[in-house]
Amino acid sequence: MKKNCLILGGGGFIGSHLADALLDRGYGVTIFDKLNFSRKNINHVLDKVRIIEGDFNNEVDIKGSLAGIDVAFHLVSSTLPANSNENPIYDVESNLVSSLRFLNEALINKTSKVIFISSGGTVYGIPEKTPVKESHHRKPICSYGIIKKTIEDYLFMFEKLYGLDYSVFRLSNPYGERQNPLAAQGAVAVFLKKIILGERIEIWGDGSIERDYIYIGDAVNALVKSLEVKTDERIFNLGSGKGHTLNDIVRTAEKISGRKAEVKYLEKRKIDVPVSVLDNTLISKTLGWKPVTDFEEGITKTYEYLKKELL
Ligand SMILES: NC(=O)c1ccc[n+]([C@@H]2O[C@H](COP(=O)([O-])OP(=O)(O)OC[C@H]3O[C@@H](n4cnc5c(N)ncnc54)[C@H](O)[C@@H]3O)[C@@H](O)[C@H]2O)c1
Repeated sequence: MKKNCLILGGGGFIGSHLADALLDRGYGVTIFDKLNFSRKNINHVLDKVRIIEGDFNNEVDIKGSLAGIDVAFHLVSSTLPANSNENPIYDVESNLVSSLRFLNEALINKTSKVIFISSGGTVYGIPEKTPVKESHHRKPICSYGIIKKTIEDYLFMFEKLYGLDYSVFRLSNPYGERQNPLAAQGAVAVFLKKIILGERIEIWGDGSIERDYIYIGDAVNALVKSLEVKTDERIFNLGSGKGHTLNDIVRTAEKISGRKAEVKYLEKRKIDVPVSVLDNTLISKTLGWKPVTDFEEGITKTYEYLKKELL
């Protein structure tokens, strides 16, 4: 029988795509998200999923959500890389402490596996060599990355001491349909929205910052594959393995839309590492997965989606 999967943060960008991919493969899906969360991202699957509203910071809610669950995907974060240093104590309380409570509850509930979405763009800090391999040192320069790194370490501890099975995916920069173009994260959606609405794009630095952009459909397929392949590997980079600059996004968006973008370059931010491209050899070999959507194709899909949403 196929497993019952819980997606904590399942109403969000990545969680809603993960729900689609799991349903396609016949898994049972329970979505846990905030009280009265917007159903926009999951409207099309409301009759196929179980929904639990609650607060990740509330022990009783988390305990209740885990009943009858085989695999729990942890996709909740209350901070972003760019704002996490404003209040690291809040970051620790809402993300680290709550994640520890969740791991305790997963043990008590005998959840067979926990899958955690970490961050390939922040856990390594400033890469010494790119593409970055999983064995690269982890020296994050933002609180968000420190929390992701520490949750990874607790997962290791819970497995070693108490036998809780887990996988960690150090995700690069996902983009695609349903990414919020009004958020402070996700350059592809933000830039496309500005081009569509004829607004000025603002870039911190000279636009040469290089990132590993991965199309969301490819990213969630890797997460689902991990349920189907037996392996002792637990920590994977999840990215395209290719680097693109912010200026590349602008140029590609101009090409696809046929519009000229107005760009204002601002002073660069200290928290932005100059280059972050992930080596995806391990995940490709172990899970037999590879990204199939190239940069221009993925940006075209996202553009078409946003055009319908915004105009
Ligand atoms: N989007 C990216 O670029 C990216 C990159 C690497 C890692 N990640 C990680 O992936 C995960 C999902 O990211 P996303 O882009 O889908 O974010 P998102 O904001 O679209 O989705 C997160 C969901 O979690 C829910 N949530 C937040 N706090 C909650 C709480 N206290 N109780 C219940 N639900 C709560 C939100 O309502 C939202 O629906 C996060 O852990 C994020 O750190 C994201």
